[in-house]
Amino acid sequence: MIVSLKEMLQEAQKGQYAVGAFNCLSLENVQGAIQAAEELNAPIIIQLAEVQFPCAPLSLMAPQYLQAAEETSVPVVVHLDHGQSFQTCADAICQGFGSVMFDGASLSLEENIRQTNEIARMAKACGVDIEAELGRVGDVGVDDASKDVFTDVQEAIRFVEETKVDALAVAIGNQHGHYVATPKLNIDRLIELKQATGVPLVLHGGSGTSEEDFKACIHNGICKINVATAIQLGVTAGIQQYLANTAKPNYIDMKACMVEASKQVVMDHIRLFESNDKA
Ligand code: 13P
Repeated sequence: MIVSLKEMLQEAQKGQYAVGAFNCLSLENVQGAIQAAEELNAPIIIQLAEVQFPCAPLSLMAPQYLQAAEETSVPVVVHLDHGQSFQTCADAICQGFGSVMFDGASLSLEENIRQTNEIARMAKACGVDIEAELGRVGDVGVDDASKDVFTDVQEAIRFVEETKVDALAVAIGNQHGHYVATPKLNIDRLIELKQATGVPLVLHGGSGTSEEDFKACIHNGICKINVATAIQLGVTAGIQQYLANTAKPNYIDMKACMVEASKQVVMDHIRLFESNDKA
């Protein structure tokens, strides 16, 4: 059942849990994610990021996402992750996505507000919800993790007032990719951001975060947590195990193993985010 991001995250905010937002790059990822949500009776977000289009084209993935979301009885949001331009957000909306993220975090505050507003106007006119980002969520190994890149509270107040976004991704020490060491998130800053803005907050870079930080996040304003790398690592490990244990591998079992591995990773995260039995 397709639902809106705004409604799904408002429920999460009330219930103090987070909805898992899983980047699905294949049909096996989509099937595994939806099966996990069904088994745990959880709301779920399936999403595709613009940087992932070269290996998982939007036009090919969109029908799979939408059909899977329509066929299941659990609430699903079909979401564009890290749209980098007006055009990409428009493309995702034309493909039927019900929610888009515009990532203007690398822009100046003024320009981020201006472009987010432009896209928000277009999205809202189409009945589509919008997530934006403020503060720099870097990439492991690419950015200097020691720099103060946390989302500024005063900037966040202004950003939310002027854009009225449905969800805001914040930088509190989180990074995308496979962490070399488990990060320590700035929960004090998260609490300040929550109190100052009141908007459902989003944690990107979920893979590799400690259980303690996940719990602190979901009990202090994070309503959506993005997970990408962990799914692909889980699938890779699943295939390796299957090949190591199977004398005569075949492609049907291999596919089932990819679905199962995706499902297990998604189930583990749904439990951690306490969104099970919230559908
Ligand atoms: P990870 O790959 O670190 O889980 O990050 C996912 C993400 O934030 C996608 O937007």
